[in-house]
Amino acid sequence: MTDPRPFPWPPAPIKTERLVLRESEARHRAAVIELNASPEVGTYLGGPQSRDELERKMPEVPGRHPGWFAVELAGALIGTIQLKFHAPEAPDNNHRRKAARTELGYQFLPQAWGRGYATEACTAALDWFAGALPGEPVVLYTQTANTRSMRLAARLGFAERERFQAYGAEQWFGIWSPTAPPA
Ligand SMILES: CC(C)(COP(=O)(O)OP(=O)(O)OC[C@H]1O[C@@H](n2cnc3c(N)ncnc32)[C@H](O)[C@@H]1OP(=O)(O)O)[C@@H](O)C(=O)NCCC(=O)NCCS
Repeated sequence: MTDPRPFPWPPAPIKTERLVLRESEARHRAAVIELNASPEVGTYLGGPQSRDELERKMPEVPGRHPGWFAVELAGALIGTIQLKFHAPEAPDNNHRRKAARTELGYQFLPQAWGRGYATEACTAALDWFAGALPGEPVVLYTQTANTRSMRLAARLGFAERERFQAYGAEQWFGIWSPTAPPA
């Protein structure tokens, strides 16, 4: 079976009070390299990537995948959000993968931390997702040591399902379920 890609993609740009979420464009490339090369951003994500290698390997338009959102503040990229779809036949279809087909990921530039942008943007992405795939849950993995990410997960309404050891650290696995739409 091939990946049915259930998202209607790309959506029209999503506007929040301060931000815009949109499909990736070539003009986002430099900031995406910045994100991936940042030691602060990479602290709990396996470390930063080499800037030289990113410059060589990053496609002209980064993040061209369904569910990959560029988050813009005043027209400049400050972070990215991914709603990653796992095909049901994925080889590592373990019990966590079976909990939901979609996983949330997020990375914001350090200069944008501490202002509520990630909460605002992820809330909008989850709202969009709830409209696109009504009733579908979303899962999230994060290291428990990643306290900013843990607080964000709680603010977004993810409920803890499990803690487990992987990659030499304690991992947190949570699940978000959309509230039923009003009758
Ligand atoms: C995880 C990450 C996105 C969280 O960023 P963050 O800045 O802490 O989250 P938010 O943008 O939602 O900001 C929330 C903070 O802003 C504060 N804030 C300030 N002004 C605010 C406003 N106007 N509205 C809301 N919150 C505001 C909040 O009080 C909160 O602070 P607190 O957590 O100390 O209580 C960020 O740390 C990051 O990109 N990390 C690297 C990538 C990563 O590890 N990803 C996780 C794996 S998927």
